[in-house]
Amino acid sequence: MRKPVVLITGASGEIGHGLIERLAGDPARPIITLDLNPLAPDIAKMVSREIQGSILDTNLLDRIVAEYEVDLVFHLAALLSTRSEFTPTAAHEVNVGGTLNMLEFAQKQGESHGRPVVFLYPSSIAVYGMPDLETKARAGEVKEDQYNHPITMYGCNKLYCEQLGHYYSRHYKQLAKEKLSGRVDFRCIRFPGLISAVTVPSGGTSDFAPEMIHAAARGEAYGCFVRPDTRIPFMAMPDGVDALLQLASAPRERLRRTAYNIGAFNPSAEEIRQVVVREFPGAQITWDVDPKRQGIVDSWPADVDDCAARKDFGFEPKYDYERAFSEYLIPTIKKRYGK
Ligand code: SER
Repeated sequence: MRKPVVLITGASGEIGHGLIERLAGDPARPIITLDLNPLAPDIAKMVSREIQGSILDTNLLDRIVAEYEVDLVFHLAALLSTRSEFTPTAAHEVNVGGTLNMLEFAQKQGESHGRPVVFLYPSSIAVYGMPDLETKARAGEVKEDQYNHPITMYGCNKLYCEQLGHYYSRHYKQLAKEKLSGRVDFRCIRFPGLISAVTVPSGGTSDFAPEMIHAAARGEAYGCFVRPDTRIPFMAMPDGVDALLQLASAPRERLRRTAYNIGAFNPSAEEIRQVVVREFPGAQITWDVDPKRQGIVDSWPADVDDCAARKDFGFEPKYDYERAFSEYLIPTIKKRYGK
């Protein structure tokens, strides 16, 4: 008999790493992973099967359908925002084409075991497009349905895939004759910039915060690629992982939206620098603004309204700005770099 399993795509990335550590404690739900890159050896030990391959390989996805009863999917594989601007068509292929493949995969799984597959999708503050800095300052906390005019390929991909997920969960093949058992149960979080103490991101535009912190911990100089006054929402990785798990286990009838904002704190780049210098005296942080990356973060909101997530699935971050640094980032990072 096929055993219910959870599938994580893009599992070797930052969120995947944190998610596997949390899910590994539950022996009732074995984890299988799909990623182009191998998992870190300590993480690989926690999964029951690591598949090295692509979400664009539909033959491979069909083989997984045949072999496993996947009832929960965390589809994390994507090219991030800065990287996507260098290769926009490749980003579209992976971020949109890959997500379409995964939704089809979940639909087939649901049909084969007769109940919906819960499908968790990480969207992003990149779906927003603030037209200018004055509007950004005036808007403050942005609601999910405001300013949905992204300026990046990544943001467009995420916004569209939210819609695609909504389509699969509510309208897929409604006009077709065949009877479908179980639609995809699509649920989506719009993440702010995530800061992990144990991994360093690559290819994102919110990376200036984690890069600054990790560089200081390693004793390396860092040229921050955005202006000191740059402000976007951030969150400590454990709260991001918790939010995904809470949304995954929320009763369907409580969820009034497809995509939910979540946020925790929103320091300016200068405010981040100040804490980093306090914790790592002698840290060398300068401003080396990249106008293109600056343009991207300027188009992201300064803050998000996450009332719906708090109400519908009980989202409540453990770490505010001070606690994120004092109780999570600084102690864990110091341990990681042996300081
Ligand atoms: N933080 C991501 C990035 O910067 C967006 O989701 O690309």
